[in-house]
Amino acid sequence: MGNYQISSDVLPTLADFSLPEELGFGEVKVPIMYRADFANGEWQTAELTPYGNIELDPAAKVLHYAQEVFEGLKAYKVGDGRPNFFRPLENLKRMNRSAERMCMIEIPEDIYMDGISLMTAYSEPFIPNGSGKSLYLRPFLIGTRSNLGMGVSDTFTFMVIASPSTIYHAGHMKIQIEREACRAARGGTGAAKTGGNYAAALQSAQNVQRRGYDQSLWLDPVEMKYIEELSGMNFFILQNGELHTPVLNGSFLAGITRDSILALARHQGLTVIERDIPIQEVLTGIQSSAVSEIFACGTAAIVSPVSLIADADGTTYEVQKVDELAATLRQSLLAIQERREADPYLWTAEVDGSYYSEK
Ligand SMILES: Cc1ncc(COP(=O)(O)O)c(C=O)c1O
Repeated sequence: MGNYQISSDVLPTLADFSLPEELGFGEVKVPIMYRADFANGEWQTAELTPYGNIELDPAAKVLHYAQEVFEGLKAYKVGDGRPNFFRPLENLKRMNRSAERMCMIEIPEDIYMDGISLMTAYSEPFIPNGSGKSLYLRPFLIGTRSNLGMGVSDTFTFMVIASPSTIYHAGHMKIQIEREACRAARGGTGAAKTGGNYAAALQSAQNVQRRGYDQSLWLDPVEMKYIEELSGMNFFILQNGELHTPVLNGSFLAGITRDSILALARHQGLTVIERDIPIQEVLTGIQSSAVSEIFACGTAAIVSPVSLIADADGTTYEVQKVDELAATLRQSLLAIQERREADPYLWTAEVDGSYYSEK
C-alpha cells in the first residue's frame, strides 16, 4: 500500500449520492476520485476526494502535446463477497508500456492498486450487481509541466475516476472498412492507449455513422491491406472452424479481452491462429461461407457480433452466423469475470479488505 489520505468530505459526499434508474455505459460517475501527483522527482501523498474539476495550467503538456495515457477496467459485484477486478495488473502493465512510449513516469503498482481499490471499496454501495453490470474504472495519467516548448513533462498527475455501468451494448454491429484514413502509423503510438489515437479515429467514425454503420474497421497503415482492429475493440473471424485474429504488430492495441478470448477458445478445443489477415480474404470468405462468423471484443462490450461488413464503395457483405460462437465466448468470459464460475486462470481478484478499514 502506498501513501494516501482520505478527505473528510468523501463519506458525506457518498452519503448524498444515489444511482439514477438508467445507467448506460460511462455516463454516471461516482462522486469521488483518486489523485496522485508526481513532482520534484517523487510521488506525493495521494488523496481520495469528492469528484470535481481539476485545475491545470493552460500551458500544461497534456493540453498541447497530448502527453496522456489511460486504461479501462471493471470491478464486478455479482456474486457474494467483496467486489472483484478482472486481470487488473495486465491493465497496469499496459498502462506503463503506454507511459513509456509517451515518455511519461512509470506508475508504481501500489499507487495504481490503491487508486482502483479505494475507488471500488468506497463506491461499493453503487456497484450494480446484475449480470453484465459493473463499476467501470478509468485510470489516467497526464503530463502537467507548464511550458510551451515541445518536450517531455517532468510533472504528472495520475487519477482514477469510476462509472457504475451496464454492459456497453454494441448490438449486432455493421462495420465499414476504412480505406483512406489511418488510425495509427507503424512505429507510431497505435499500441499505446493514448488519447491521440482516439482523436485520429473520430473523423472516420463520424463518416461511417453518417452512412448508417456503427464503426470503422481499420486496416494496416503500411499497405492498407491487413485488418487491424475497430476503434475500441479487437477483431476475430471464424474461418473453416478455426478462430483467427490479427497478430499483434505494434500498430494496434493488445487487448486484455483478446488475450482472454484466445485462452478460453484454446481451452474449449478451438484452433486459434494469430496472423496477418488480408481484408480481401475475409470478404471472399464471407461470400463463400468459409468465414462463417465475425466478432469484436473489448472490456466495455466484452464480445460483440459483427453482422455486416460494408466496403467504402457501398458493397455489403452479410455474415452468415451472428452471435453463435461469440455468445458462447461472451457467456464463458462473463461467468469468470463475475465469479459465477470457477476461475482456473486466476484472472479475478477481490478488493483487499484493508481498503475498507478507514470507512
Ligand atoms: C483501440 C482499442 N482496441 C482494443 C481494445 C480492447 O482492449 P481491452 O480488451 O483490453 O479492453 C480497446 C479497449 O480498451 C481499445 O481502445
